[in-house]
Amino acid sequence: MKRPALKKEIESLRDEIRGHDERYYVQDNPEITDVEYDALLARLKELEEKHPELITADSPTQRVAGRPAEGFTEVVHRRPMLSLDNSYNLEELRAFDERCRKLADGRQFDYVAELKIDGLSLSLHYKDGILVRGLTRGDGRTGEDVTQNVRTIRSIPLRIRSNKKSPGKEFEVRGEAYIPRSVFEQTNAEREQEGEARFANPRNAASGTIRQLDARKVAARKLDMFAYDLLAGDRKPFATHWAALDWMQAAGFHVNPDRALCPSIDEVIEFCNRMESRRDDLGYEIDGVVVKVNSTSLQDEFGTTSKAPRWAIAYKYPARQATTQVLDIQVQVGRTGALTPVAHLEPVFLAGSTVARATLHNEDEIKRLGLLIGDWVQIEKSGEVIPKVLKVVESRRTGNEKPFRMPKKCPVCGGAISRPEGEVVSRCVSAHCQAQLKGALIHFSSRRAMRIEGLGYSLVDQLVEKKLVRDVGDLYALSLDDLTSLERMAKKSATNLLGQIEASKTRDLANLVYALGLRHVGDRTAGILARHFGSLEALGKATVEELDDIHEIGLTVAESVHDWFADEGNAELCERLRAAGVRTEMERQTSNEVDAKFAGQQFVLTGTLPGLTRDEARALIEARGGRVTSSVSKKTDYVVAGEEAGSKLDKAQELGVTVIDEAALRALITGA
Ligand code: IVH
Repeated sequence: MKRPALKKEIESLRDEIRGHDERYYVQDNPEITDVEYDALLARLKELEEKHPELITADSPTQRVAGRPAEGFTEVVHRRPMLSLDNSYNLEELRAFDERCRKLADGRQFDYVAELKIDGLSLSLHYKDGILVRGLTRGDGRTGEDVTQNVRTIRSIPLRIRSNKKSPGKEFEVRGEAYIPRSVFEQTNAEREQEGEARFANPRNAASGTIRQLDARKVAARKLDMFAYDLLAGDRKPFATHWAALDWMQAAGFHVNPDRALCPSIDEVIEFCNRMESRRDDLGYEIDGVVVKVNSTSLQDEFGTTSKAPRWAIAYKYPARQATTQVLDIQVQVGRTGALTPVAHLEPVFLAGSTVARATLHNEDEIKRLGLLIGDWVQIEKSGEVIPKVLKVVESRRTGNEKPFRMPKKCPVCGGAISRPEGEVVSRCVSAHCQAQLKGALIHFSSRRAMRIEGLGYSLVDQLVEKKLVRDVGDLYALSLDDLTSLERMAKKSATNLLGQIEASKTRDLANLVYALGLRHVGDRTAGILARHFGSLEALGKATVEELDDIHEIGLTVAESVHDWFADEGNAELCERLRAAGVRTEMERQTSNEVDAKFAGQQFVLTGTLPGLTRDEARALIEARGGRVTSSVSKKTDYVVAGEEAGSKLDKAQELGVTVIDEAALRALITGA
């Protein structure tokens, strides 16, 4: 390709990807599928790999850094990152309003009310519209340079979207980085599986993540950031804070949509109350509202104390904590056999609901808390579904408290329990544990899995206890008589349920892979595996190396997938599902029939093909039932080599693998 044309393609790919990033990460309104997105990014990477001199710092490929950093450099903030004064009730908020009115001396002004996100603040420096530096707040005067990590936050533009009103050549955006609740829960579940300690709350998770030395780990943690302040050098570039928020949004930053321009403190109070009632429905943690004087010239006039601005205040929501007694500690067994101790509490009313249980996660957590049965404890609701125990109130001990002991056998099936070295989770290892089976059925029928509506807890209990179902495969053998024999199951609901079970047979392969509940395989990973292998059979035959070879699949997942399929019982289950008519192959996107010359054949692509991009070639092969892998082995059937093919071609020749060019690939397709 000629250089100008090449540059043009690279730039237009970058623009396109930036647009999709923003629609996905900022507006939450994607326009293309993940596969299409991956294809764009892969094409850009391919061009940049071949022409490294054309890589720029603002290219979307530069979000993930290569080598871990060795430490962070300290940098002095151009303007200190102050903290905020707090108010804990409406009187204090009104007192703030009075102070402001006095300082304004009769002049009218508005407030801006924003959510106070519970994360950590970042300072982002832009030069000519390009992100050049990201700093943590540190002690407010000196922060740490975490630019590499900041680049991995997808909602932070590496290059701003140009718009008319510019704050100037150099500007600084400040905002709060946070971990969404769903990601937090998933991260903790993963950490537990890996035998690592849980993060106490999303804020700790976010700050632990941004100070990670390995940027690839940061990228995996899916941080996000809401921008809340804009500076140009030492001053604020717009006349009002509201205009700055609007500008940042137009430039491509994530600005919290829940904000209000309030002509009086009464409206601010209304916003505070309204958002407090919505607190549990937000996807992230907030600890209050930040109230700011809108006019930036008044802000300058009011000034700051050494610690905080006089023109802003935080209105903190009451902590969602309560004190109650632990009546008992019982152990629940989940789908993976994990034993989870749960505290049964004297019921207390806490932030809108009555709480009677709190999860204790695992044995180590009970030890860490020093918790005994009968203890009084402080509990907290932090947005997670189940509240947690914060600490023991030791002063209320009577001496009648009793220690908790983890059972030596599974409390449900009596099976053996194992807790591998270095792990925090104990598991029931029995293959016939009813608790595991119930958990597996609930997971199998859940929304992101096979979506069998109507198969809830009480029904699952009955199906398992009456031995109508011994594994998920048995669901497809249930008859109308089986179902109507159950309690509270009329013919109509039984027929509906059978219809749901039937409909689940046509779910995507990705849903099925997820539904099978392999350890370390969440719905995203399941999608990657399904797309790569195209059928359950092919996935089942994959070696650890082949799995590990896939971009985004690590060794832990590879081993887990391989071990699962190596189990005879699981292999038999897959066969029964297929025989029952469950779709175990990827639905083809085109009308191409599986082609015998391609079916089950392994291809490796290398070098530049004259008329096809890598992704086009891959799509052509996969649509016909072939598979594309990234490294050449004895199992490779064809290496499709183009210009500048490197070591893969050598390896193919060494192993005697058939090497073809684009023309030969096309001939294979057309049968010519
Ligand atoms: S404005 C000088 N706005 O709260 C004003 N801060 O307790 C600086 N925070 O360090 C802060 N959400 O990390 C502002 N919408 C928001 C915020 C916010 C969260 C954090 C920020 C700050 C801390 C002060």
